[in-house]
Amino acid sequence: MGSETEQLQQIIDQLRREIELHNYRYYVLDAPTITDAQFDRLMADLQQLESDYPHLITPDSPTRRVGGKPREGFTTVQHTVPLLSLANAFGDGELKDFDRRVSGALSNEPYDYVVELKIDGLAVSLTYRDGQMVRGATRGNGATGEDITANLKTIRSIPLRLNKPVDLLEVRGEVYMPKKSFAELNRRREERDEPTFANPRNAAAGSLRQLDPVVTAGRNLSIFVYGIGAAELNGERLPDTHLAGLQWLESLGLRVNTYHQLCQDIDEVISYCRLWQDKKADLPYQIDGIVVKVNSLAQQQALGATMKSPRWAIAFKFLPEQAKTTVRDIIVSVGRTGAVTPTALLDPVTVAGSTVSRATLHNLDIIREKDIRIGDRVVIHKAGDVIPEVVEVLKEHRTGAEIIFNMPAVCPACGAEVVRPSGESAHRCTGAACPARLLEGLIHFASRGAMNIDGLGPAVLTQLVEAGLVKDVSDLYSLTLEQLLNLERFADKSAENLVRAIAASKANPLHRLIFALGIRHVGERAARVLAEHYGALPSIMDARLEELTAIMEIGPKIAESVVNFMREPQNRALIERLIDHGVNVVAEAAPTAGPGSPLAGKTLVLTGTLASLKREDAKELIEKAGGKVASSVSKKTDYVVVGDEPGSKYEKAVKLGVPVIGEEELLTMVKPVF
Ligand code: IVH
Repeated sequence: MGSETEQLQQIIDQLRREIELHNYRYYVLDAPTITDAQFDRLMADLQQLESDYPHLITPDSPTRRVGGKPREGFTTVQHTVPLLSLANAFGDGELKDFDRRVSGALSNEPYDYVVELKIDGLAVSLTYRDGQMVRGATRGNGATGEDITANLKTIRSIPLRLNKPVDLLEVRGEVYMPKKSFAELNRRREERDEPTFANPRNAAAGSLRQLDPVVTAGRNLSIFVYGIGAAELNGERLPDTHLAGLQWLESLGLRVNTYHQLCQDIDEVISYCRLWQDKKADLPYQIDGIVVKVNSLAQQQALGATMKSPRWAIAFKFLPEQAKTTVRDIIVSVGRTGAVTPTALLDPVTVAGSTVSRATLHNLDIIREKDIRIGDRVVIHKAGDVIPEVVEVLKEHRTGAEIIFNMPAVCPACGAEVVRPSGESAHRCTGAACPARLLEGLIHFASRGAMNIDGLGPAVLTQLVEAGLVKDVSDLYSLTLEQLLNLERFADKSAENLVRAIAASKANPLHRLIFALGIRHVGERAARVLAEHYGALPSIMDARLEELTAIMEIGPKIAESVVNFMREPQNRALIERLIDHGVNVVAEAAPTAGPGSPLAGKTLVLTGTLASLKREDAKELIEKAGGKVASSVSKKTDYVVVGDEPGSKYEKAVKLGVPVIGEEELLTMVKPVF
């Protein structure tokens, strides 16, 4: 290794150590010492170095957390030491029975217990070799699990490297989703009309079993490690109590829950369980009981295990909490994607440690299915200790005065028509300028695939909305330099650039504007088809359903959505305002690429980062030259365009003998059409 490379290696190592330390302080200790922006800068520096010197990338680099590619399925893993489950104890009596069994089996020798929170998530096993994480697996049936290494690596509280290079260590822990993330995930899924998860446990399990680690990475999972499966230490002795074991795991940089405690006898254990029955509601994650473990490892061994569970431990289970109350009213609220969601207003009642006065009813189907009426006596619970829900109606309490609920015909936030698109369970507001949907609509409008306005990201848009300067997308085109300069964070140059970028977007091709309007189900492809077919936005405004469905590539869902959107007077007025501002609403002349274009009729696949072209721009150029961009490589692919750090598509192209070209070649091929 040359000395320059050595120096570089040292710089990269140092940077990685620094990042790992801050990662540990943030995600494991919950005590960061630098700001998020400073952390992002360190990561950006490392990313830059690794992209300049790819041969110095290692699998345990902090940049590799989301490095894995989507897979076809999971491979199975044979656990060397099986992952047992726990027997349950409901109530004090069963805890005392357990204690009698322990005491008897230990022939009355002294013993103590460690009590821990029983985290409600998914059991996993992590294997470290020479201190490096080499494998992560689900518990499965205890003997065999699934290899989910790539997904587990995306969890920031799982160290990719231990503080000490232990020869071999296999630890067990629980991966969970914090209550807040669970509520947020379900809210988003409900708005998108996707099925919601019943509790944080299911959400964590669903997120871990994703074939694409990128999805897992976006789910904000975390871990608590609670036990050692196997260990080989060079010379060193393993701790001889469970408590010392937890402390040792912590010293290695693993995240151990802090609420564990040593108890001298079963009465202390019982008080600990009682304490958490009430206090569990205050935790940011869900627990479903308390785990009681004999502390001495020698005694654990002496007690042994049955086929299913150890005799030295038991899970004290909390009873699920429910309460009875009355539905006083049913109101609706409008979410960011326009979903109109009903909520029950309840007489306040305490459930799982907190006062509940409203419960989500999800959608009209669920209200009808459970037959929930205004005035009903109902049983409620908290889904996963978090989201209050109506479990059932106590119909025997009905007086006949109960009122059947119906969805409002117009949106309570903007007055636009509320529709229930066919095949969906959610009702939706059709108003593009609905204040409840404003920010999300603006972010989409300015985004790269849509109007592609540089410098107009979520942060700036939030500022503009908060300052009252933008009430719908057309307001963007009347923003002035002075207005921007009055806002925080804007200097002469940045304000000028933004005004210029907004003005430049007026000349965008029509399909970008159609996509930018955010009509449900109208993606980039459908927007292009509509632009090409109709040639001008005003014609689309008057398109009829049958006419739209007759177009190839426009299905009934898209057609219905376009008609609903264009029928709404507020949306028509918005389009008129955009036209008044001079935004282009006509399509370019017929495609410029003649049969002479080398890309006419060809199918291309893009992989890796191109040096000068953004992916959307490359796609646009190819399509203008008469070509098509596909997402996967097959024998029918004509060219694969390869940039930096190409994915598996590159390998596949080579394997299938598909010609591979670079950005420069692509640029020459698209040139003749300009
Ligand atoms: S100890 C042999 N400790 O509960 C002992 N388990 O049915 C095995 N769990 O599969 C488990 N928190 O998923 C232990 N502090 C904790 C736990 C815990 C949650 C889960 C784990 C296990 C299930 C037991």
